[in-house]
Amino acid sequence: MSEKIVIAGPASQLLATKIASHLNCQLVGADHKIFPDKENYLRIQLENETDLQGKDVIIVQTTAADAAGDQNQHIMELMMLISSAKRMNAAKIRVFVPYLAYARQDKVFRPGECLFVQELLRMMELMGATEFYTVDIHADHVLTCLSIPSFNLDPMKILAAKVQELKLNNLVVICPDKGAMERSRAFASYLGNDVQVVQFHKKRDVKTGAITMEGDASVQDKDVIIADDIIATGGTMALALSMAKKGGAKSLYAVGTHPLLTKNAVYRIMSTGASKIIGTDSLTSPYMDVSLAELFATSISK
Ligand code: R5P
Repeated sequence: MSEKIVIAGPASQLLATKIASHLNCQLVGADHKIFPDKENYLRIQLENETDLQGKDVIIVQTTAADAAGDQNQHIMELMMLISSAKRMNAAKIRVFVPYLAYARQDKVFRPGECLFVQELLRMMELMGATEFYTVDIHADHVLTCLSIPSFNLDPMKILAAKVQELKLNNLVVICPDKGAMERSRAFASYLGNDVQVVQFHKKRDVKTGAITMEGDASVQDKDVIIADDIIATGGTMALALSMAKKGGAKSLYAVGTHPLLTKNAVYRIMSTGASKIIGTDSLTSPYMDVSLAELFATSISK
């Protein structure tokens, strides 16, 4: 078996550090800067072109916008990392992108749109990725465009373990839309055998993006948890939480694998009366309650 080496992409340095520690292997950083003409520069911090030769290289790089750059910049860094590892003759290039940008552009909703998430995946393969890993991807059918092995890791068990620390005793899980049903059922099952899942129905106007929601919100005296893949503007979460509040919920919790929390999303959620937002370190946010490091390290050690 070849020696593992973790490369910390500029957008996932902390997570990469934790992964290297779980795998007990070498961690290497990357220098990144933007030239005055806005081109990206990236360099894996190694002294010799032969340093990755024959190695099992693990690149960790998320693609959410953060203080250092937007998703397009982090995608460019990712491509440059993979390409460099390939040129340096790595034996394997496992790419871990915990949050995959553009994942919600998984269908042609209106004529003329681009199915960009699949192009992005193909670009990674073209650059030299030999395995692809992500977490709770919005729609996993997009992974079928890859001819390399791909893995969509499920964080619901570790998120449920975090919720269990709250010692709530009258739990119900609300599923905010049809696409979230499988995730909500899995999440509820990790919380306990008798935790009920209530289904709401969300509709989104494809032109304006505006959402409406319907559902039976009779949750009198319940501790309500809503688990979604992405919390972006907070619109979906806030609407579902406020319906639960009106339905008599005793307490409200928002769980999101990828807490993007753009603009005033935190305010929108917390002003419904929610007690807490719980997220993972798939991206940098104040809600990195649960680390994905062990989940990923275990999945590649299998
Ligand atoms: C959509 O189907 C997703 O699963 C999330 O519910 C959605 O992306 C959340 O977006 P927002 O926070 O902007 O409502």
